[in-house]
Amino acid sequence: MNQPKRYLITSALPYANGLKHIGHLAGAYIPADIYVRYLRAQKRDVVYVCGSDEHGTAIPIQAMKEGTTAQAIIDKYHPIIEQNFKDLGISFDIYHRTSSPLHHETAQEFFTVLNENGDLEIKETEQYFDEATNTFLADRFIKGTCPNCGYESAFGDQCEKCGKSLSPDELINPVSTLSGNVPIKKSTKHWYLPLNKHEDFLREWILKEHKDDWRSTVVGQCKSWIDGGLQPRAVTRDLDWGIKVPVKDAEGKVLYVWFDAPIGYISATKQWALNNDKDWKPYWNIKDTKLVHFIGKDNIVFHCIIFPIMLKLHGNILPINVPANEFMNLEGDKMSTSRGWSIEMDDYINDWIKKDNGGESLADVLRYYLTQIAPETKDSEFTWKGFQDANNSELVSIFGNFVNRTFVLMHKLCGGKVPVFHNDLIDDADKDLITHINQTAKKIEALLEEYKFRDALFEVIDLARKGNQYMQKKEPWILAKTVAENPDNQKLIDNALHICLQLTANLTILINPFLPFTAKKLLHMMKVVDKMLEWQNAGRIDLLKVGYALRAPELLFRKIEDEEITFQLEKLKQKSTVNRQSSTVKKVEETKSETPDLKSEIQFDDFAKIDLRVGTIVAAEKVEKADKLLKLSVDLGFETRTIVSGIALHFKPEDIVGKQVTVVVNLAPRKMRGIESNGMILMAEDKSRKLHFINPDTKVDEGSGVS
Ligand code: MF3
Ligand code: ZN
Repeated sequence: MNQPKRYLITSALPYANGLKHIGHLAGAYIPADIYVRYLRAQKRDVVYVCGSDEHGTAIPIQAMKEGTTAQAIIDKYHPIIEQNFKDLGISFDIYHRTSSPLHHETAQEFFTVLNENGDLEIKETEQYFDEATNTFLADRFIKGTCPNCGYESAFGDQCEKCGKSLSPDELINPVSTLSGNVPIKKSTKHWYLPLNKHEDFLREWILKEHKDDWRSTVVGQCKSWIDGGLQPRAVTRDLDWGIKVPVKDAEGKVLYVWFDAPIGYISATKQWALNNDKDWKPYWNIKDTKLVHFIGKDNIVFHCIIFPIMLKLHGNILPINVPANEFMNLEGDKMSTSRGWSIEMDDYINDWIKKDNGGESLADVLRYYLTQIAPETKDSEFTWKGFQDANNSELVSIFGNFVNRTFVLMHKLCGGKVPVFHNDLIDDADKDLITHINQTAKKIEALLEEYKFRDALFEVIDLARKGNQYMQKKEPWILAKTVAENPDNQKLIDNALHICLQLTANLTILINPFLPFTAKKLLHMMKVVDKMLEWQNAGRIDLLKVGYALRAPELLFRKIEDEEITFQLEKLKQKSTVNRQSSTVKKVEETKSETPDLKSEIQFDDFAKIDLRVGTIVAAEKVEKADKLLKLSVDLGFETRTIVSGIALHFKPEDIVGKQVTVVVNLAPRKMRGIESNGMILMAEDKSRKLHFINPDTKVDEGSGVS
């Protein structure tokens, strides 16, 4: 294979608007870090860039929430996020900021080149405007229902639910997130990137050239985008937070955050070059650089469609691959910081790494589990039980156990030194294992080159498993009992432990990209230098010199107790309850619009606990300041109840009075926007997310039971 001269690896620049959770970590950072560490071990020329995305409406929105300025927000979160990544072993060559002057200059130059080459179009259009705050409503300043999936809290630039990239005009029932008002339209001028002019290029480049070597999920999303018809896309905004549009008559206008942020990869490379006395240009301007973007699936459109068009127009290289991950759920629900259903990197670090003695190994445990369940081809799920199992039954019982046994027995039976290998006594088990080590190293290499990190990690653990089986077969501790009668047994012991030690050295090289802290410990135990980690050493069985004295074994992984898991589960529940109380409405709406997986089986008794009755809506009114809620009075025959229901976007109050509905009458009362809701109305949600009442086919008496 022809090796490219250099690699430029990027991970999505996280918004510096808050803590980042382990779903982000699993999607864009751990896989990139594994790949980069592997490339470095291969001694390839690689630069790994990332940094904070500090523009866009996400930042001022967080500032409003925290009652402070946008600048204060980025200055608060940038260093925390940077340190979190460090603590988890993410080895960026640079973690830059898009608020830096170098980035502003770079992004403005980029815009100027496109603008002066006539690659942008200027258009005057009517845009949403919030009169209360005197602001044009771009991106996250506006919310509404997604025309694609029906999610009711889609942002003006993207639906976070289905990933579709949107413009505010496409939103159904748009509202200002600044004031909650329904916006008016006002005329304004903007610069557009005519994506439609590049359709042929995209079809050729993605759907033909890369149709087989990019992940099918990525190609699929691009295809549906292209087939759906590409539109010119505004690359400027009326905002006061961002990079000024570098044109004379553009007062009060800044570059769209998704125009400037990916250029952050370039400015980060420039800053890295400045810091290291290198030239940045070859990394972006010459064909033999391999550019790979690691991202989550919500960023596909920007990295596969928009940014490549910009790069092409500006005369830069295009990415060779964009191995985007799907989403990682958490304990049966979508991960979300705002809903409190998430594990922040910062929390994990405090609970597991900082609290533990020698806690760095707990960073590796998280890296291990997140790689094992990486959503490479479909959404996956983090559970604390799964985390515990991965640690206890794989890292402790297989990997740690093999290394520990090897070291303990070597000290006990071979005088603490690498024993000699007696070639004349080699047997089939030895030969098989040696071959296997070599083949596994090759397999892992091939998998890593194809971004198949889960499979590659599985191979490493499987190799350790083979080591345990080999040890079990050789039983050096049994042989040791009869060395006095049979001196040849010592030779057999030596051979077995020699091979186990060489395997340990190989495991160190192979695990290093995944679990760097563990690899470091192993190097220390074997008293060898970093150089041994070079990938060319993988598969060799002469890595440790005969007669070389090794250190005592260290504990690589500790057992994780049930109580620790219970504590985390409890913590998660509490955190999400706290959040639910502060945003009851949101929670209700989100549950409504989520497509549930089939629930697990229940007994009849479970079902029988639910008291379902037919009722008639006798009054309905809108709930103030909650555009999605209706306050209903429902006649149940035996009484009339108040029920708050999240159906206001689907039904007008006057249209539903008199309708019969099915009600869960024994649901615990719950307050929404200060109104106590006593029960729940059953609704069916069809494919287009429209809601329908579940009611009897003819009018029945109020209070009739449903079963
Ligand atoms: N900040 C964006 C997000 O969190 C990602 C930006 S990636 C970049 O979704 F390419 F624009 F840098
Ligand atoms: Zn959607």
